[in-house]
Amino acid sequence: MDSQIDQLRVEALQQIAQATDEAGLDAIRVQFLGRSGSISLLSEGMKSLPKEDKPRFGKLLNDARTAVTSALDEARTELQARADRAAFSGVDVTLPGIARAQGALHPITQLQDRAVQIFRRMGFALADGPDIETEFHCFDALNTPADHPARNEQDTFYFQDGRLLRTHTSSVQIRTMESAVPPIRIIAPGAAYRRDEIDATHLAQFTQMEGLYVDSNVSVADLKGTLEFFFRELLGSDAQFRFRPHFFPFTEPSYEVDIRTRALGNADRWLEIAGCGMVDPAVFEAVNGRRGDRAFDPEKVTGFAFGFGLDRLAMILSGVPDIRLFTDNDQRFLRQF
Ligand code: DAH
Repeated sequence: MDSQIDQLRVEALQQIAQATDEAGLDAIRVQFLGRSGSISLLSEGMKSLPKEDKPRFGKLLNDARTAVTSALDEARTELQARADRAAFSGVDVTLPGIARAQGALHPITQLQDRAVQIFRRMGFALADGPDIETEFHCFDALNTPADHPARNEQDTFYFQDGRLLRTHTSSVQIRTMESAVPPIRIIAPGAAYRRDEIDATHLAQFTQMEGLYVDSNVSVADLKGTLEFFFRELLGSDAQFRFRPHFFPFTEPSYEVDIRTRALGNADRWLEIAGCGMVDPAVFEAVNGRRGDRAFDPEKVTGFAFGFGLDRLAMILSGVPDIRLFTDNDQRFLRQF
């Protein structure tokens, strides 16, 4: 029996030395060490040996098993190394690599992110609504009468089914109040669309940021404080403000906000930057009608809203002379941000 073990061991080592791939090694492992492999079968045969022979025979078997196992391991390592060398044989690792251009956020996205961060510090949450809107959310609920010029087909992109591309982000005010109850404090950045003649300061798609704050006892002072804090954070503490009475159908009273600051180029010039006002009770009632409750009872809650465009702000802040540059997708322009 001793010579049988020796023979198996020699045979196994020979086969291992000749193996050319890992599958071959696996087969050898099964053939000799597997549950019904030849070395394992010899162990079975030990039972019938005389007692005094068992220890010596056991040791021989164990040695053979160990020798075959480590030969298999070594062969496997060598095969892997050989495969690695083959894979890299055509590669010159001293050649310079291929540099990939790093992308960056679009300048309007960068400005939007800064604006969002400032509002978040004041407790405003992000809200969202669809770009394709109903007349109800874009106009009716915002107290905009059917004969209002903004609803004209000359100004608004309509679909066959009567829906439209939202002309302002104010529609998100309605979407938000439909699904939440006061207190509400949200901002909604996003795209708006108008059938404008395209030129250096107009595109058919632009970017706005809407804000809405509804609670008990919200006042014009809260509105002014919030917007002044926001624009000072964004444009610098030297900013001066003018809240000019204006008209918007969905707020009463309404204002346009003018700003004068060095960051916007010329400190002697007032720039109209945003629209705002106190939410009109008619807007609350339109929302109540939709909800079928009195969650926005104008006797109990008040609110302010505001909206401004990001494109013109980004243009002035970065000295961009033509709004079309933002959508031309020209790397020479975009790389500068
Ligand atoms: N939606 C207005 C526009 O596109 C801007 C605006 C004005 C938004 C007054 C408001 C607001 O929320 O209260 O010109």
